[in-house]
Amino acid sequence: MNTFKMNVKCRCLVEYDHVDELREAVSDPSLPRPLFPIGGGSNLLLTKDFPGTILHGAIKGIVRQDSGRVHVGAGVVWDEFCEWCASEGLWGPENLSYIPGEVGASAVQNIGAYGREVCELISSVECVDTHDAVVVRIPAEECGYAYRDSRFKHEWKWRYIVTGVIFKVSETPVPILDYGHVREAVIERFGQDAIDHLSPGMIRETVTSIRKSKLPEVSELGSAGSFFRNPYVTAEHYASIQQIALRDGLGPVPHFEVGEGLVKVPAAWMIDKCGWKGRGHGGAAVYEKQPLVIVNGSGNAAPEDVMALAAEIQSSIKEKFGVDLEREVEYV
Ligand code: EPU
Repeated sequence: MNTFKMNVKCRCLVEYDHVDELREAVSDPSLPRPLFPIGGGSNLLLTKDFPGTILHGAIKGIVRQDSGRVHVGAGVVWDEFCEWCASEGLWGPENLSYIPGEVGASAVQNIGAYGREVCELISSVECVDTHDAVVVRIPAEECGYAYRDSRFKHEWKWRYIVTGVIFKVSETPVPILDYGHVREAVIERFGQDAIDHLSPGMIRETVTSIRKSKLPEVSELGSAGSFFRNPYVTAEHYASIQQIALRDGLGPVPHFEVGEGLVKVPAAWMIDKCGWKGRGHGGAAVYEKQPLVIVNGSGNAAPEDVMALAAEIQSSIKEKFGVDLEREVEYV
């Protein structure tokens, strides 16, 4: 139940496919604590046996509501929702196609790719409050969304369990093509004329093929996607990274201005330039095609292998570029 394929156990597992079953579980004092909800287990590193109860949600259902709103069960596989939207001709999540995991976790992590963040599509998040087992609906504006972040990861972590997400989608085309090579890839696939007649399915197909070419298939090779977040550095810090790149002949430094005087420098570039591609620790390794991803290369890597490799990467990036890489993957 975790895409990193760590061989660890939990004391107790509860699977539920209805909100009321979850409400019962959170009110049941006989279940060992803590209670920890997981979705697809695609952004976690399970570091050791878990002493409490894992709550595994399987609430399904995609229901169209009024004014472009869609209610989606937290246990719906994220990419199945993307596929459903494309087949209905609805715009919104197409750039987020083929991201592993489930809908509930997408709203916790604020998944993002190819110029789209899921928070831009969320109207509200439906949760069970573990304090009193009551269902609450929290508007997106109150969720504290930021790059790969939300209040669900911090002060609400042990409080709310997501049971459904209400998305806003659009029948009017809103293609996002300006991130990386998305536009070129669409033209290459469908021809220049297609740019004026795009469907969400065409973008979905393009993004899926880009992801397949760069990222490991979690069914074949254990991983949890990007292991680190892309760091934001000050303009002065960015200038010093450029100096280092010039000194060491590393070529131009890819970067994106993100406002407030900050610059995003891809962690993948730094990890690559520190020579990590393909290197490993025990059974864990840095993925050759995308060094932001750590893989369970041997299939039986221990959590300690992954943690040791991650720490070695962090200290080498700190030493060379003075950057503190933050983990994107959560240690449990
Ligand atoms: N790069 C290298 N060497 C490499 C690979 C990449 O130098 O071997 C450099 C290139 O300059 C490239 C840059 O890194 O332009 C950035 O790479 P890319 O745009 O492919 O993606 P990313 O920044 O590494 C982020 C997300 C991904 C998401 C892509 C596309 C984070 C932590 N990761 O990765 O999300 O799919 O952008 O939008 O923000 C995930 O979270 O699991 C994930 C895959």
